[in-house]
Amino acid sequence: MKDHSQAILFFDSGIGGLGILREARILMPKHPFIYVIDNEGFPYGPWKEDKLRIRLLTLFYHILKKYEPLLCVIACNTASILALDDLRAAFPDYPFIGTVPAIKVAAKHTRSGLISVLATPVTIRHAYTKNLIVSFASQCFVQLVASEKLAGYAEDYLRGKRVDLDVIRSELLPCFVEENGKYTDIVVLACTHYPFLTNIFRKFALWPVDWLDPAEAIARRARSLLPTCRNKIETKEDLAYFTASQIDFAIKRLLHDYGFKYAGLV
Ligand code: DGL
Repeated sequence: MKDHSQAILFFDSGIGGLGILREARILMPKHPFIYVIDNEGFPYGPWKEDKLRIRLLTLFYHILKKYEPLLCVIACNTASILALDDLRAAFPDYPFIGTVPAIKVAAKHTRSGLISVLATPVTIRHAYTKNLIVSFASQCFVQLVASEKLAGYAEDYLRGKRVDLDVIRSELLPCFVEENGKYTDIVVLACTHYPFLTNIFRKFALWPVDWLDPAEAIARRARSLLPTCRNKIETKEDLAYFTASQIDFAIKRLLHDYGFKYAGLV
């Protein structure tokens, strides 16, 4: 078995984590990365919360036992909101960095006071998101927009497949709110898949907004929590693992283009 003790582990249900990884590589260029993609569980949006939480804990039990990484980045809002606290409690020897909706940042920067949060249904209905609004954005009008389909379209789009632009448009439009002559000015991209669709989002925007992508902030946080390396970093090989064997050629090519070697099943 390979020694992954210097590796930073990224986890997502699909390709969403690549946006944060891109930033992390700039900040931590010497460290090897492991990217675990739960393609068997994708998409997370429609899952029942308890079942998904148990799945995540079970998966991490195996992942950590097998790879013993230096640090874990949960590059997925849905998984972080559901399981981050439980993961930290269950595996106290590992530092975990989560990805949660950037509502606090949006509330700080909005000028109109109208912000929207676009995310999977699990993220939108979870109390964690509601608590972020109460704690940090009580002075704002926050529009919560749940999408079941956008994560799947982001996967297709990055693979170069055709996507249904009309559906993307109709999933996006509820983010644009006008109230008393004021307009939404920030859309929080609270699913790591969505930044890959911003070119399309821009085309359908009813007016210009900031699309808030926390990727860089998460990468900075990861660097700040990076434990000192147990040994000198000798090899830098970035490896991608999956939870199911049905992996299409396009995803293998995409990961290869991002500098990852397909390493098999978790
Ligand atoms: N990338 C994930 C997130 O940030 C979710 C995508 C999905 O599985 O639906 O929430």
